Amino acid sequence: MRVLGIETSCDETGVAVYDSDRGLLAHKLYSQVKLHSEYGGVVPELASRDHVRKLVPLIDDVLKESGSEGKDMDAVAYTAGPGLIGALLVGACFGRSLAYAWGCKALGVHHMEGHLLAPLLEDSPPAFPFVALLVSGGHTQLVDVQGIGKYEILGESLDDAAGEAFDKAAKMLDLDYPGGPQIAKLAEKGKPERFKFPRPMVDRPGLEFSFSGLKTYTLNTVTEHAGENGLPDDQCCADIAWAFQEAVVDTLTIKCRRALEQTGHQTLIIAGGVSANTRLREKLEKALAKINKSVYYARPAFCTDNGAMIAYAGCQRLLAGQHNDLAVDVFPRWDMQTLPALGS
Ligand code: KG4
Ligand code: ZN
Repeated sequence: MRVLGIETSCDETGVAVYDSDRGLLAHKLYSQVKLHSEYGGVVPELASRDHVRKLVPLIDDVLKESGSEGKDMDAVAYTAGPGLIGALLVGACFGRSLAYAWGCKALGVHHMEGHLLAPLLEDSPPAFPFVALLVSGGHTQLVDVQGIGKYEILGESLDDAAGEAFDKAAKMLDLDYPGGPQIAKLAEKGKPERFKFPRPMVDRPGLEFSFSGLKTYTLNTVTEHAGENGLPDDQCCADIAWAFQEAVVDTLTIKCRRALEQTGHQTLIIAGGVSANTRLREKLEKALAKINKSVYYARPAFCTDNGAMIAYAGCQRLLAGQHNDLAVDVFPRWDMQTLPALGS
């Protein structure tokens, strides 16, 4: 089965062609980061309009690169939620219409299921069951994954998502959006022991997260060390970036380990933008090796938003016989636990 995947839930236009026999044939991404940079965050209306501009040329490119034409496609899978409603509607209307024109099936895909399954696009993918840590700009969730669509949320953030915390801390240090990669880069120059930030909620039992206290702690540290320009000096900013990243990474690592112990699963997968963080990968690998468990993740380009994960997740569900009718429905908020399970 050959599927065109379309991702437009936020500020990235991602498209890909996935073939169930031959694997991923082509993928393209256009990031709107520059468009939103002067506003310090994503402007929904600008995002929708830019998806309209970029979808046709990107789809032309992946069709060419994959050696396919519309008639070769068995289905179009598009992100139906969660995300920004206007941005979702662009991809959904476009995907649904293309499928109609090509006479093939269409399916709306859950964005977080796309992230969750992205590591399975890599060589030697892990087998079910496993624990998934979903860490993106809008979500921080630990999920017990028994199979596709068999999801039980074990714990999630009570306030900010991990990616959101990175983005806000970056703003405090006058770094550009998205803040995660910027903090990670600056942290490389940081002196490890200068600051010790709190690891929120690790002393309590349970698998919930909270990053708002850490955010306040970061802001207080920045203010305390600020010079006349309102910012600490360069070295101090790097030390703060290091301490912040370390606190987030340690918190996530402790909770992942706890989730594995609680479920008895051998495998952890990490997915979503923050799973691209090298320090998180390093620390998880070390911590899990000690208890003979392992961690899997996607290549960095498939950790952040992309079309390949949507084509892949869609293809798994389409192969099981699922598809949507002609109505175009999008869901800006959408609980992953309500998705139908495959094979039951
Ligand atoms: O999954 P994603 O691309 O979009 C959402 O579905 O939200 O995640 C974006 C988030 C942003 O908050 C960004 O700062 C964060 O992922 N991120 C990172 C890194 N790369 C992206 N955070 C920490 N370290 C990174 N290397
Ligand atoms: Zn995402």
